[in-house]
Formats: sequence, structure tokens, C-alpha cells
Amino acid sequence: MPAANQAAAAERIAQLRAEIEKHDYAYYVLDAPIIPDAEYDKLFRELVALEAAYPELVTPDSPTQRVGGRPLPEFGELTHRVPMLSLANAFSAEEVEAFDRRCREGLGVARIRYACEPKFDGLAVSLLYENGIFVRGATRGDGYRGEDVTQNLRTVRNLPLRLKGEALPRFLEVRGEVLMLKRDFARLNARQAELGEKTFANPRNAAAGSLRQLDPRVTAKRPLRFYAYGVAEASQEDRIAKSHSEAMAKLMAWGLPVVAEREVVEGVEGLLAYYERMARKRQDLPYDIDGVVYKVDDLEAQERLGFVARAPRFAIAHKFPAQEALTVVEAIEVQVGRTGALTPVARLSPVFVGGVTVTNATLHNEDEVHRKDVRVGDTVIVRRAGDVIPEIVSVVHERRPPHARPFVMPKTCPVCGSAVEKPASEAIARCTGGLYCPAQRKQAILHFASRRAMDIEGLGEKLVDQLVERGLVKSVADLYRLTAHELSSLERMGEKSAQNLVTAIEKSKATTLSRFIYALGIRNVGEATAKDLARHFGDIKALMNASADQLMAVPEVGPVIAESIVHFFAEPHNRRVIDELLSAGVHWPHEKSAESGKLAGKTFVLTGTLSSLTRAAAKAAIEAAGGKVTESVSKKTDFVVVGEEPGSKYDKARALGVTVLDEAQFLELLR
Ligand code: IVH
Repeated sequence: MPAANQAAAAERIAQLRAEIEKHDYAYYVLDAPIIPDAEYDKLFRELVALEAAYPELVTPDSPTQRVGGRPLPEFGELTHRVPMLSLANAFSAEEVEAFDRRCREGLGVARIRYACEPKFDGLAVSLLYENGIFVRGATRGDGYRGEDVTQNLRTVRNLPLRLKGEALPRFLEVRGEVLMLKRDFARLNARQAELGEKTFANPRNAAAGSLRQLDPRVTAKRPLRFYAYGVAEASQEDRIAKSHSEAMAKLMAWGLPVVAEREVVEGVEGLLAYYERMARKRQDLPYDIDGVVYKVDDLEAQERLGFVARAPRFAIAHKFPAQEALTVVEAIEVQVGRTGALTPVARLSPVFVGGVTVTNATLHNEDEVHRKDVRVGDTVIVRRAGDVIPEIVSVVHERRPPHARPFVMPKTCPVCGSAVEKPASEAIARCTGGLYCPAQRKQAILHFASRRAMDIEGLGEKLVDQLVERGLVKSVADLYRLTAHELSSLERMGEKSAQNLVTAIEKSKATTLSRFIYALGIRNVGEATAKDLARHFGDIKALMNASADQLMAVPEVGPVIAESIVHFFAEPHNRRVIDELLSAGVHWPHEKSAESGKLAGKTFVLTGTLSSLTRAAAKAAIEAAGGKVTESVSKKTDFVVVGEEPGSKYDKARALGVTVLDEAQFLELLR
């Protein structure tokens, strides 16, 4: 190659790398992409082509190296310069108090500042940066020697191959966790299942399985993330910080991903309050955690406290209650839901897990039972994450009794005897009995009466069972014909409660169109869709007569939902029940249809604090004018309203070029 050409190529390559790094950072670290995927791909392809033409210009920190190199026969071993220790665990407030006492006594101080962090449920890794370039990375291994997974780590998209900024330390060893976000895990598992490949039990296993692949091209396809939680060592002349929290801020400034859920607190009260906050947030976090970690913030104090055995004295993990436990499947029963879906449910020997006693676990559908191969008599691992319905993670095959038989789905409905149908394209088997099936009828009535639907107080499961079994209620319209006299003949129903129920039913007649639509229990129409439909059509007759195309004009209604709605209203029985409900006096205030409001069809995101109205009031005002409020900013957002101390949504709006309104402009728009 002529030298001039090569020089030009080198310059362009440097430009492209810088540009691509900027976009990777915006996309994977800030979660706020700047350019469309297609444009990113163009830059990437140009870089690949140039590097192919000038292979001597390829460097290990080039973004092209993220796609994964050649498979390895086995991983090499790396010795950690600083051992990767473990943490002592605390399971109760008393143990945390004891930890705080030991630290205070050890340091001879009255009160301590602590850095608090989530305890990630992933895989510990150590990364080495030399002059800002990522050169090596290893798993924890036995704490002293780990596996060299450098090639695989290069494929982790939010892991910077080169640090940002000036005056970088000559060498820097960063510790952190590789994990898979919950949403990426769900998507990966769905894709694996589609391809007929092995699925993973949880995000942790998926992350571990993906990082420890000998073929980095496989790892490259897995959506792994890295989050830093500490610095093991930096070169002598570069003491990077005085405290742990300051060190984390430094890492962040250098472009390393650090989670937002970090806090510095004072004293043991501060620790326990942080624990409570995180326990409440846990379910909504994008990643799995199994507790929180407390670290004495002052690094000099950390050094003075030192280590015992293989754990530091200055840090402790405060774990959430165990989320998994072993128990035995006593039976597998089949339940019939509101839409006729047959759900196998495992009846379990009672077991205490995640803070409650669990006796049932859903098995979702027939395929799931076969995939996990759960049989009556099996010993299984049950898991309960947050408020999520308990589920069976896996079977302990070694403990299977000799004659355990595989589960078979019944061919007829266990409740009404109607045929069971399972379209080849669906995983769900359904009872074809419709509202003839008492199980479906009961569920439909319970749904109709539920708090977010017609909100009939006091109409619970036991009562609905009796009403349906005695033939007093055949459709939801029959509820409005019930008399206190009829009701008082039921078990556990005094005259007083019968009268209360009649009053509650009467009261439910005054409702809103969106609640009414939701209450009908149309398949695939949840609360949010019901709201969208009410706002768009403004009245029930228009909705009942809408074609699939007209329905799809509603934002967020696709062909599947449209088809369910058309199907529901095509059923003469359903139309009759609606007429009966209206004649019985069910009514709602007139809804402004989408065309009429001045903010019709506009989507808003609110961020920061407004001075003249609350967030709820702002939302109500937008909705009253026909607009919609959503949580996250995307290209489809029309306006982002920014108050005091806005969050990252503001940055994202600016990055995406979405119109930003301050409070005054927003009020003007509403006026
Ligand atoms: S600090 C010297 N911080 O927990 C102690 N560890 O039991 C270094 N872990 O394998 C650990 N989240 O992978 C620390 N915020 C966090 C953590 C964390 C998860 C894991 C780590 C290690 C284990 C220690």
C-alpha cells in the first residue's frame, strides 16, 4: 500500500472509531441513542472494510473486535494481582448492627459513612486497563486464579475498550459484575425456544453460560452487560480517590458503566433505610439483585480495618430472604381461566421461600410442563422473586420416585367437560365451553366486578361460586337483577351484608367507558388498551361496530388485539349482555373522543418537579385534552415537559430531538 493512502486510512479509521465509541456509549451506557441504527451500521461497515484493506491498522480496542474472534480450545489461566475475595453475609438487622459496631470500634469513631450498592446477581470479573486501553479480563475462579475471558469480555457492548478523558492511570484494575438485564434475558429465552435451543433458568445462568463460551462469536450474540463496583488497584502514582464513592464517580467519568442505584448514607439507620428502599425497588430494577452491599466509604478507613480470612472487614452483603427452596410436587391440577385457558398448577408441600409460605406454582402451559418435565412426586426447586407468582425452576432428577409418570393434558375440560382445543400455533390449550363453562363464567364475573373494572365491593370468589352454582347469575347482566332477598339465602350472607352488596352493585352503575370496556374481559384488552379505545371511540356503539382497520387506527392496537375485539363483538351473546347492562342503568360520563381534544393524539413525558401543579394533576390535564402520558422518551414522543431537577429523560429528549417544554410553555399549551 502506498504510504499516503495508508496515512489517510489511518486517519479515517481513527475518526470512525471515535464516532462509533460515542454512539456505543450513548446507546449502551446512557440508554439514549443519538442516531438511527441504519446510520450506525453504515459507520461500522465502513470501518470493517477499511480494516480489512489495512489489516496492519487493526488494534484490539477497535469496536470491530467486539464481534468475537476465533474459538479457543480452552481458557487460559490468569493470576489476579489482587485476590478477588468474597463478602460476609448478613441476613438480619441485628447482623447489620453488629457489622456497624465492629467497624466503629475498629476505627474508634462514633459514626461511619457508608457507600451502599445493589448486590448484583451475576458473575464477578476483573478488568485490566493499561493507559486507558482494555487489555485483559478474567473471571473470579478460586479468587486467586481465574479464567482469561478477555476475548469474550470485548464483546460486552457497554464495556469500554478504551477509557475516556485525559490523565488516565497507567494501569487500573476494575472489579465488577457481568450480567444480563431481565428484559434481554426474556428476549434471549424466547429466541432460544423458537430456535429449539436450550433455554436458561434465570438471567444469572444465562450470563454465566454466555461469558464462559469458548467461541466468542456466540458470546457476541448474547446481550451481556458489565457494571463496575470497585477498583482493585491503580498504579502507585495514580491514587484515584479518597473514598469508594469518589472512585465510582471517577470510573463513571472514564466511561465505565456504574449503576445509578448507589447511595452514600450515615450510620446503621442509613444502611437499613437503604435496604428497605432497594427491597421495594427490586422488582422494577432492570437487573436481578440478591441483596445490597455496604462498604465503609473512606478508603483509608477500609485499609485500617483490613481483612479476615477471605473477606474484608469493611464491607458486608445484606441479603434478601432466600428466593429458592426445595419442595415436593403433590399433584398437578388443571385450572380453567376467564378465557378458557387451561393452566396446569403444581400443588406443593408448603415451603417457606422469599418471605412467604408457598403451596402452589403455576406451570403456565403443557409445553412448559414437558420442557421442565415436572411429575407428581418430584422434588423441585421453587423460586419466588418479589411479588411474582412462584415458579418451578427445575426438577431434582436424582430424587425422582421410580414410577413417576409424565403429565398429560386432559382432552376435555375438567370443569364442564367441553372439548379442549389447542391451535398448532399456540402454546395454550383452551376449553371450548365459553360462558357455558362455569369456571369461565365465574372468572368473567370476578373480573367484571374487580376493583379496576366495575369495582363491586364485596363480590368475592366464594360468593361468585355460589351465585353461579345455584344458577342465580348466568351472565354479568344478571348481577343487576339480584335482590337482597335472594342474596340473603346464600351461605355466610346475613341480611345486612346482602343489602350492602345490592348497594355496591347499584353504585357500580356509575362508571367510566374505559372501565366498562376493560370489565367486558375481551381477550388481549387490558386496562391501558381499554383507555386508548375509550379515548379514541368515545362511545361503546362506535367500538362495537368498528372494523379491524378502524381499530388498528388506534395507537398501540395491532392486528392481534383488533382481531380479538372484532371476534368478541361478533358474538350475539356478548352484544345482548351489553344491551342488558345499558338497560339496567350502567352509564358513564361522555368521553371526549380523540379527534376533539386539543392535544389529541399527542404523547407527553413528564420529568422533574413542576412548581404550580403535581405530576398527577399535569397528567390529568393532558389526558382531559385528549393527550397521553407515557413513562419513557422515544422517537414517538411529541413533548417532554421539564420541571426542576429533571432526570435522564431530559437528556434523552434532547438527544432524540424531541420538543422540550418548560413549565410556562406547558401551561400555555394547556390554556
Ligand atoms: S464488592 C472485597 N460489590 O458478591 C469484596 N461485590 O460475595 C469485593 N457482588 O463475587 C466485592 N455485587 O461478584 C461487591 N456491589 C457489589 C457486588 C458484589 C455483587 C458479588 C461479587 C462477589 C460476591 C462477593
